Amino acid sequence: MPRPRPSRSSAERPRVVILATGGTIAGAHTLRSKRGYRAGAFSIGSLIAAAPGVESLARLEAVQVACIGSQDMGEAVWLALARRAQSALDDPSVAGVVVTHGTDTLEETAYFLNLVVRSAKPLVLVGAMRPATAMSADGPMNLYNAVATAAHPGAADRGVLVVANDEIHFAREVVKTNTTQVGTFKSSHRGLAGLVSSARIHFYGAPVRRHTSGSGFPVPGRPALPRVDIIYAHSGMGRELIDAAVRAGARGIVIAGVGNGNMGAKALAAAAAAARAGVAVVRSSRTGGGIVERNVEVDDDRFGFIAADELNPQKARILLMLGLRQTRDPLRIQGLFYEY
Ligand code: SIN
Repeated sequence: MPRPRPSRSSAERPRVVILATGGTIAGAHTLRSKRGYRAGAFSIGSLIAAAPGVESLARLEAVQVACIGSQDMGEAVWLALARRAQSALDDPSVAGVVVTHGTDTLEETAYFLNLVVRSAKPLVLVGAMRPATAMSADGPMNLYNAVATAAHPGAADRGVLVVANDEIHFAREVVKTNTTQVGTFKSSHRGLAGLVSSARIHFYGAPVRRHTSGSGFPVPGRPALPRVDIIYAHSGMGRELIDAAVRAGARGIVIAGVGNGNMGAKALAAAAAAARAGVAVVRSSRTGGGIVERNVEVDDDRFGFIAADELNPQKARILLMLGLRQTRDPLRIQGLFYEY
């Protein structure tokens, strides 16, 4: 149970807006099997009611933006979240915003918001690995800690943060690494943003790249985001999926390359042809760690490719979609990968 805190009058508590989207944090078991559950079954009102003491941390205002498992997250909900978060954070009476979200694609939404929402105020994403009806559900404490983080002045100007399992992560660094464990989120490259335990918060560092208040990407209008596909490399890889992505109208392709962003000769030929046809080709890595650098085993200068630097394929896709709204020049896009 959260520790009792000295009670503050309602007027003294910071105002925090919660934007709810569903996910396992709002999941309910079904009768299908002992472990089966449906994500996004509970409303945000029920989640707040299940987190004792959360309303003593902040004056909460909750909006149900969507009710989905995050495998169904995409442009429409991203844009709705970005607009609502922006307008809440622009309100001088709001201290911060929390977004409840499924964990599967939480890192993508967090990075998208980190790039398009312009505010120094805290914007915190939170999920849970166990449904709300599970024994030892992790959602209530995660929500409690997320609200505490969003209400904390020290969370300002750190970009979008992700709170789960008593840890605070930067949006750019965090990755879901495990299918079921509550400690699934890791920030292996640059480490944690901080720790939060029963609303007691310790911050450790600042984000290293441009974000939120200093980002040059506005919330996209319509037409919003260009099609960018991710293609997973493997031994014996052919060219067919790259050709198919180009035929399907992709403006960008991210290769989840083997090792240092590599792919076999047939795939390389297809990627080079795609780049010659004006499709932006980003080389990322399927390894889950490390940096993909330019011109190491692949001659990016010759092929017109872009190296993903530290971004994993799913985050490289988001930066590429936003980058393509500004330029199609591979070298300028490469610059964005070093800036963000
Ligand atoms: C989802 O991402 O919506 C399902 C899984 C989870 O939230 O942990």
